[in-house]
Amino acid sequence: MSAKDPQNGPRIWFVTGAARGIGFEIARAALAAGDSVVATGRSRERLEAVYAPYGERVLAVELDVAEEAQAEAAATAALERFGRIDVLVNNAGYGQLGLFEENGAGEIERQFATNVFGTFHVTRAVLPAMRRQRSGRIFNLSSVGGALGFVGASVYCATKFAIEGFSESLAPEVEPFGIHITIVEPGFFRTDFLDGSSVRYGDRTIADYAALSADAKRTYDGHNHRQAGDPAKLGAALVELAAAEEPPLRYAAGSDAVDAILGSLAERQGEIERWRQLSVATDGTF
Ligand SMILES: NC(=O)c1ccc[n+]([C@@H]2O[C@H](COP(=O)([O-])OP(=O)(O)OC[C@H]3O[C@@H](n4cnc5c(N)ncnc54)[C@H](OP(=O)(O)O)[C@@H]3O)[C@@H](O)[C@H]2O)c1
Repeated sequence: MSAKDPQNGPRIWFVTGAARGIGFEIARAALAAGDSVVATGRSRERLEAVYAPYGERVLAVELDVAEEAQAEAAATAALERFGRIDVLVNNAGYGQLGLFEENGAGEIERQFATNVFGTFHVTRAVLPAMRRQRSGRIFNLSSVGGALGFVGASVYCATKFAIEGFSESLAPEVEPFGIHITIVEPGFFRTDFLDGSSVRYGDRTIADYAALSADAKRTYDGHNHRQAGDPAKLGAALVELAAAEEPPLRYAAGSDAVDAILGSLAERQGEIERWRQLSVATDGTF
């Protein structure tokens, strides 16, 4: 695949959750590179306002990723307008935080409906076009929390671990069609992610957990709008990866993510080695 593959012209990006945050910055970086963007989000009015300066190179489409029919309709609208989709960015998502037992079934299901099933709906809607084209790039927004777990984020991390397993398994299924998948694992990035307009906390109060819960929330609140990661730089990095001949399966973004993931991998390797004897003891001697 060459830089502006396959027709050496500008690429067509399809970005979910594009009205703000990381999704907006990825779209902005793609537009700055001369590409066109199908900017999708829950409010078309907001998208139209945000992308007004870019004129015809942006198609704003209403898409709540939890709604399968909307994903199908958005992909159809994108193909009608641009004829192809070169880069899909499954970015839409939010954090359902709080300790596990503070979250009810409904809150957990909503979290999976957006972060996991939303990604599935949109990917299923876009893949047929990419297979026809015999080319495509897919960026799935995971998190450092898709590589290791965090106190107060069990439900959110479960969705991001799901994205990792999904993406890693799908990658070899679609690679024969020239479609490459990259899992994006950002550390803390300065967006509305931890802001009251995005993040949600479980609403059950359990006395046993009071201190741990307050501590976890204080930590997350303390990062709100003070995160070290720059989403504009992440957008530029994805534009670079979209042009890479051999993109990575996983891309960790930010030094916090790099350090945490390397630390976790080393711990995991050490644990497997410490327990190796008992692990291999289950091999059959049939
Ligand atoms: N910022 C970080 O530190 C960080 C770290 C690791 C991973 N991430 C991941 O990066 C992605 C973007 O997060 P962000 O930091 O940019 O947060 P953000 O500023 O809160 O933006 C989240 C975006 O997702 C959209 N969204 C949420 N639910 C949706 C749904 N059901 N359908 C369509 N759009 C929906 C939001 O739309 P509305 O405007 O309509 O609410 C918003 O545009 C998420 O997947 C997040 O998990 C973020």
